[in-house]
This record gives sequence, C-alpha cells and structure tokens, in this order.
Amino acid sequence: MIDFSFQNPTRIHFGRNALEQLPKEVERYGKRVLLVYGGGSIKRTGVYDAVMQKLGNVNAQVWELAGVQPNPRLSPVREGIEVCRREQIQLVLAVGGGSAIDTAKAIVNGACYEGDVWELYEGKGTNETALPLGVVLTIPAAGSEMSRSSVITREEDLCKRGRNAFTNFPTFSILNPEYSFTLPPYQTACGIVDIMAHMMERYFTMVENVELTDRLIEGALVTVINNAPIVMAKPDDYDARAEITWAGALAHNTLLDTGRVGDWASHKLEHELSALYDIAHGAGLAVMFPAWMKYVLPRGGARKLAQFARRVFAVGEAFATDEEAANEGILRLEAFYRSLGLPTTLGEMGIDGSRIPEMAARAVAMMGGRLGGFVPLDAPMAEEVYRLAL
Ligand code: NZQ
Ligand code: ZN
Repeated sequence: MIDFSFQNPTRIHFGRNALEQLPKEVERYGKRVLLVYGGGSIKRTGVYDAVMQKLGNVNAQVWELAGVQPNPRLSPVREGIEVCRREQIQLVLAVGGGSAIDTAKAIVNGACYEGDVWELYEGKGTNETALPLGVVLTIPAAGSEMSRSSVITREEDLCKRGRNAFTNFPTFSILNPEYSFTLPPYQTACGIVDIMAHMMERYFTMVENVELTDRLIEGALVTVINNAPIVMAKPDDYDARAEITWAGALAHNTLLDTGRVGDWASHKLEHELSALYDIAHGAGLAVMFPAWMKYVLPRGGARKLAQFARRVFAVGEAFATDEEAANEGILRLEAFYRSLGLPTTLGEMGIDGSRIPEMAARAVAMMGGRLGGFVPLDAPMAEEVYRLAL
C-alpha cells in the first residue's frame, strides 16, 4: 500500500426524504440560488416542482440555467459564471446527472477564478476557493455528486477535458433513489456501466498489498451486478435502486483510490469517443473496457484480471490458469453488458475505424505521452485498443 491523504468533504443526504434537507442547506449558504439542469427530464418527472417548492419554503431567489446537454459544453458554463458574478449568487444547485453537475462545478470554480475558466481544464490555472455547490441527483452514473472531477467539452474543437480539484467536491448532495425510477432503460444501463468502470479503473493497479481496497471494490462490483437485473426488470424497485445509487457515489468518491494508483486508460479513450461521436459515456465504456482488458491481458495483466474474474464473476476451477480465468472473466463482463441491452463493439454503435489515429493521439497527448497506470499505453498501443473494440 502506498502513502495517501484522504478527505471527502461532501455531505450526503440519502433516501426517500432526503430533499427535506434542502431548505436547511439553502439557509446555511444563502438564498440567491442558481439552478442548473438539463434538457427537461426534471420537469417531466416532477423533481423540478419538488425542488422549487423547497426553495420557495425559505423564500430563495432563483435564477435558472436550463438546457445543459449530455457531454456538457463550455458555453453554458461561461453563461453561468456571468450570472453568478452579476447576481451575486450564493449557492449553485445542480439538479440532474453528471452533465448538470459538471457544468455547475465549472461555474462555481470559474466564478472564483479571474482568468478564463477553460484554463482550469487545461491545467494552466488554479483557484483556491469556489462558490458552494449543492446537488440533487437524478441518475446514478457519473458519481459527480461526490467526486472531485468535472468533465467539460469545448465546442470549437470537441476537446473533452476532465479536471480533478478539491474545490470540485460538492458541498452537499441529495440522493433520493426514487428519482431514478423514471430513467429510460438505456440510461439506467449506461449508468451501471459507468459506476462499474469507476470501480474497475481503480481495481486494476500494479500496487501490491492492497487487499482491503481490492475487496471493497469487489464487494461493490458484485452488489451492482446483483442489483442491475432487478432495476432493469422493475425500474421502481426502491431497494435495488438504493444499492445502485449509493454504489455510484462510493465508486468515485476517492475512498477506493486509497493506497493505490488506478489506471484510467479506458476512461480517457472513451472521452475521445463521446467527444467526437456524442455517445453516452457509459455506452462508450461498455465497448472500451473489455477491449482494454483484452489488450492488457497478455501484457502483464493476467494475474489481476484472473483475480477479478474469480472474485467478481465467480469463475471457477475449470479455468485453471490465470490466462484462462482472465479470458473467461472478460467474456462474462461482455455478456453482462449485453444483458443490459448495450452493444460491446464500436461497429454496433455505427462507429468505424477512420478516426482511431486521431483519437489515440489526442488521448495520449493529454496525458503527456503515456496513458494508464496499470499498463502504460503510447499512441500506437492506444490505437490497438481502439481496433480491438471495432
Ligand atoms: O437532460 P435531461 O433532460 O435531464 O435528461 C437526462 C439526459 O438525457 C436523462 N436523465 C437524467 N435523470 C433522469 C433522466 N431521464 C429521466 N429520468 C431521470 N431521473 O439522462 C440523460 C443523461 O444525463 P447525464 O447527466 O448526461 O448523465 P450522466 O450522469 O451519465 O453524466 C455523463 C457526463 O458525466 C461525465 C461524462 O463524461 C459525461 O459528460 N463524467 C463525469 C464524471 C465526474 N464528474 O466525476 C466522471 C465520469 O467518468 C464521467 O466522465
Ligand atoms: Zn466514468
């Protein structure tokens, strides 16, 4: 286990009555509130009305930034920063999923940074403080509700960049699993894949003697795998939704990073896909993660992949060698993704190989020439991973 410092400052309110905590939170930070949300699902599902009612209870003054799109773009961020400065906003409240939350994160940081907000995403500037950020989560997936990441796409060159910063942790997050009852099956499935990917990126480490975090991750993965078919068959099963909602937050809240170095190549490779083709992040991961596993298996990855296969997918003694067990584990992971109704190849998503060199070059360049902590990939290797995904 390697040395680490751990602090996650996000206050979580979880459960059917979690929204009851919103008025108290608003009173704590200020009643000039900027509400950030997506393309309208919250209006159809009633979450918008419920939130507005709670804000009304404390006479909050509300400004709205609506229409944030999946794979969120930079221009609404700039718009939100302007509103915060002009109206002296005291609390930014994101209602939705990763896209609304990441936009809100960029806003609360950008509002406290003198330069252009994109500099923060390019690593050319930092901010010490941010405005308070609240979250009402409607889709367990990205884990942004408890993470230090924010991912934004600059429209002019479709450059999708993640930024990790302590000031990105939300101040508080309200997680009511009932809000995910209305998710279309496709979004539920994409969320499940992303949650598992956040666990697996951390699982695949070359750091030795990390049994506690290995077993925490394995337990979390098994929990998601067990509850996934339940929510796919019965979207309003509260108990199963609750397991997946909490797993989504814990997957990415940095606890599972402790004492180890994760990989993250699959995420970087996927971000290029969702930037260029505007696909759902989780759908892209269902293709890229198995392809990455196939690539690393014969390149030093067999032992850990075999452990994953045996402990997470219960691959038994019939698969005696690490290579056999690892291969079987990858097949079972793909079969699981397909059972959720997701494709596991780029071809099935209508994506051909024409832009592979460009995506590989961009993904690797962003990481200073080498991608991934488990098996480092240069650009030609990253191209091979994409080809395995075709
Ligand atoms: O836009 P609306 O109308 O709200 O509809 C959304 C959207 O179309 C819909 N939806 C959300 N909750 C719903 C619902 N529909 C019905 N009922 C509900 N309760 O679902 C669609 C997807 O929403 P989005 O916020 O885009 O999903 P997700 O949470 O998967 O976020 C994806 C973004 O997060 C980034 C991804 O790259 C992508 O840009 N990520 C952010 C991370 C972070 N900040 O820590 C980590 C992740 O690895 C990821 O990269
Ligand atoms: Zn992700």
